[in-house]
Amino acid sequence: MSQNIPFIDLHPKASKFTIDVHEGLKNLPKKIPAKYFYDKRGSELFDEICTLPEYYQTRTETKILRDLVPSLKDIIPGDITLIEYGSGSSVKTQILLDHWDNIKTYIPLDISKEHLLETAAELKSRYPQKRVLPICADYNDGTKIKEALAGETSKRVIFFPGSTIGNLVPDRRKALLKSTQEILGQGGYFLVGIDLASKDTQIINRAYNDDQGVTAEFNLNLLSRINRELDANFNVRKFSHKAFFNKAEQRIEMHLISQAEQSVRVGEERINFEVGESIHTENSYKFTVPDFTAEVEKLSYSVEHVWQDPKKYFAIFLLKN
Ligand code: AVI
Repeated sequence: MSQNIPFIDLHPKASKFTIDVHEGLKNLPKKIPAKYFYDKRGSELFDEICTLPEYYQTRTETKILRDLVPSLKDIIPGDITLIEYGSGSSVKTQILLDHWDNIKTYIPLDISKEHLLETAAELKSRYPQKRVLPICADYNDGTKIKEALAGETSKRVIFFPGSTIGNLVPDRRKALLKSTQEILGQGGYFLVGIDLASKDTQIINRAYNDDQGVTAEFNLNLLSRINRELDANFNVRKFSHKAFFNKAEQRIEMHLISQAEQSVRVGEERINFEVGESIHTENSYKFTVPDFTAEVEKLSYSVEHVWQDPKKYFAIFLLKN
């Protein structure tokens, strides 16, 4: 890290990764939590996905954000502590940091420590007048995050862009929305991006099956990461990427499909695969504005604003607690 900036480390223990992978691969059907995509290489590949022509989400949300940002300082006056969940390279956040002077403290929160610290150091040199306090954590660990933020007295705004909330199954999503309320306190705001379901299914499918194969590499990197970090011997070439829109569930599913009958060692465990057997690696739920509104209102958030692009591909909600 080029600059010494304070840093809060709430990263789950390395053993949690082993336990989750072992449990997930013993499960039928096999699964691995999507949060493990984001080691350094996975975070780089995700950044690349965001620039792909097929991946409409990033450019659409960025345009919505540019259009809405001038209105934020009137809607939310006073000093702000901006907390970003899954901050990655903090690219979209810079639109907020550039145009919303009232942000005095920026707290990027991400599970990928190395990437988080590099980005935080760059941001600190770009915005020397702002306090930058990176937190390495899983955003599902609401209790720990709340404790870590106890000293932050300014109005809190949580920014959760990219429709990353769509990577959580409904129960988890509800838990996150509730823990976010705890962290925000009364009167805090939640600015959250969601990918909309109402577009042609082909457009959604293509976003996860790009021509250059970057999404496939992102998916397969999970196995390489397990090889690197958990002493495993996956032959990555014997698995292939599969992504499709599951209409009944309103979600993209990503899987890794075993191309052979094979046995893989993961640390101390041996895992057997049939030909064609899948490891379910990700869900990416798509929403409608009325459904998401109903879901958050049930938890007593008030929907202050909903911004959408003209084609209604993507929406950004401003919720007040
Ligand atoms: C981070 N998240 C919102 C992405 C998505 O679209 O669900 C992750 C991703 N997976 C494949 N491509 C992008």
